[in-house]
Amino acid sequence: MQGSVFTSFSDMVIEKMGIVTWNELLIKVKPCSKGIYTNAMLYQDSELMDLVTELSKKMKIEVEDLLRIFGGYLFIRLYNASPANLTKVDNLKDFLLIIDSVIHKEVKRVYPTAYLPTFDYAENAQGDLVMHYQSKRKLCHLAEGLILGAAEHFNQIITIQQQECMHNGADKCKLTISFKEK
Ligand code: HEM
Repeated sequence: MQGSVFTSFSDMVIEKMGIVTWNELLIKVKPCSKGIYTNAMLYQDSELMDLVTELSKKMKIEVEDLLRIFGGYLFIRLYNASPANLTKVDNLKDFLLIIDSVIHKEVKRVYPTAYLPTFDYAENAQGDLVMHYQSKRKLCHLAEGLILGAAEHFNQIITIQQQECMHNGADKCKLTISFKEK
């Protein structure tokens, strides 16, 4: 996985939980990289999951919740580093609809070694946006956090429900996003 995800993770832990927690985490997990991350490098996916799992035990926060928190933190970092021009997108729904076909596509063009998840889209009878997430990494809870981070950025209130999940044997994770009036 791209180094930018790892630098953001270490920044979040240091900022929110302190440098002592980060150092204790590294002592326990002993990652191959020794916890020294660079944006331009690639690191093992398992390294992120090992750090998240250990932090979950240490802080007594469920792995799923930790990934959601991290997604919320990561969003603005990714947004600000986007190779696709996002200045004309002014609302959450339009933004979510272009993740797959514009944002991640452009990321893949600029960083050919990146492995990106896929999203396909539908609308349910209530007018909610349904996003089907698929990735070998099964980071659907990170995706939820990223979507919540995007909602905060666009100053919109949403709820997300995950009715089907790859962790429970589904082919794809089904995320239903309801947009609330302010
Ligand atoms: C709400 C918005 C977004 C969602 C839901 C989303 C979803 C995700 C998820 C879940 C991953 C983890 C990898 C995986 O699942 O296989 C990921 C990775 C990534 N995303 Fe997005 N993303 C969003 C916005 C963005 C933006 C704005 C950028 C701009 C650059 C971006 C660039 C990336 C990059 C570089 C990776 C790492 C790929 C790799 O390590 O190979 N994403 N995204």
